[in-house]
Amino acid sequence: MYVCICNGITDHDIRAAAEAGCGSLSELTMRTGVGACCGTCMETAGALLEAYRPAAAGVVALPVLQRAA
Ligand code: FES
Repeated sequence: MYVCICNGITDHDIRAAAEAGCGSLSELTMRTGVGACCGTCMETAGALLEAYRPAAAGVVALPVLQRAA
């Protein structure tokens, strides 16, 4: 689904950023552009970032596995 209409950012984009180690909403904006215009998407983007972060999902991030993927 589209989370940020202004910049065409989807939940898949946010998941990919979270899995790549994105740790904050401001970093997510820098990586994807989400929230860089009107900002109405920021609350949803932040919630998705938290939900998709590997630590939030109960998964221990193993850098060697991330590099292999
Ligand atoms: S909907 Fe994301 S900046 Fe406008």
